[in-house]
Amino acid sequence: MLDEIARQLDALLPSLEEELKRAKSTSDLEKIRVGYLGRKGKLTAILKSFATLDPSERPSAGKMVNDAKDRLLSVITQKAEEFRKDEFASRLAQETLDITLPGAALIPGHPHPISKVLGEIEEIFTSMGFVSEEGPDIEDDYHNFEALNTPPEHPARDLHDTFYVEGGLLLRTHTSPVQIRVMKRQKPPLAIIASGKVYRVDLDISHSPMFVQVEGLMVGEDITFGDLKGVIEAFVHQIFSKEVAVRFRPHFFPFTEPSAEVDIRCVLCGGAGCRVCKMSGWLEIMGCGMVHPAVFEIVGYPTERVTGFAFGMGVERITMLKYGINDIRLFYENDLRFLKQFS
Ligand code: DAH
Repeated sequence: MLDEIARQLDALLPSLEEELKRAKSTSDLEKIRVGYLGRKGKLTAILKSFATLDPSERPSAGKMVNDAKDRLLSVITQKAEEFRKDEFASRLAQETLDITLPGAALIPGHPHPISKVLGEIEEIFTSMGFVSEEGPDIEDDYHNFEALNTPPEHPARDLHDTFYVEGGLLLRTHTSPVQIRVMKRQKPPLAIIASGKVYRVDLDISHSPMFVQVEGLMVGEDITFGDLKGVIEAFVHQIFSKEVAVRFRPHFFPFTEPSAEVDIRCVLCGGAGCRVCKMSGWLEIMGCGMVHPAVFEIVGYPTERVTGFAFGMGVERITMLKYGINDIRLFYENDLRFLKQFS
């Protein structure tokens, strides 16, 4: 009986080796392993015949089975190791990188056209000695209107379609309130610019509910309209070009007296008249004037000694004229075909 078991056990290895030759993958191998060593496998079947053995034969039969199992396991493990190596090698081959291929180009970003032009405007004024100041986007009625000599019911308020927010506050309709904030905390003489977002209920080809302004203010003794003209002309010649003519046209703002709007010779038609300048040959680029004494009184400046000028411009407008852009909405649509032209 023991001989019979030994014979069966000896037959297992060659037949296993034969099957292993045909195995093509780890999963084939696993099936083969189960066929020999699994619960219903060939080795287990031999174990079951132990029931017919004489108890004295069982220990040596057990040892034979264990030895056979070790031999089977060792060839299976060896085969598994071969598969593992092959599979690893083929994965490596698949994942090979061609390091001679050109790399993916890094596309560097660049400032938005509005940021770019705003930077240029700030640079021009700071190089003349103006200092940059800031104020909040959410303002109160006092700073945005009242202290700028624009009391409730004042008709100038109609020009500003204001966004109101909770708590009696509003989104500033211009950067002029920064003038008030600066003058309230600082004594003259001073020369500041203040840039930032402003908000109005407005949307069309040349108006956006949010846009960017730059405010300027210079206060001291003997500041005249001549100084205002000099500063603005110097600015225009730097931001556009030396050849561009500038004119001051009387206008009205509640917080300046006298007030003016600044026009430049149409940069698109040279003054001959075109659609952009509405055949006038001139383009309006900012508002300005001499600070109204009522404003000085509100901030507590001595009106008999100090004078000053102020101006305010829209950065989108300047950018549109500088680059011949005809629709303000292009600035906010983030169309890369548009933005890439300013790199
Ligand atoms: N705040 C005005 C506006 O938004 C622009 C302006 C005009 C600002 C005259 C000034 C100024 O400082 O003096 O329309």
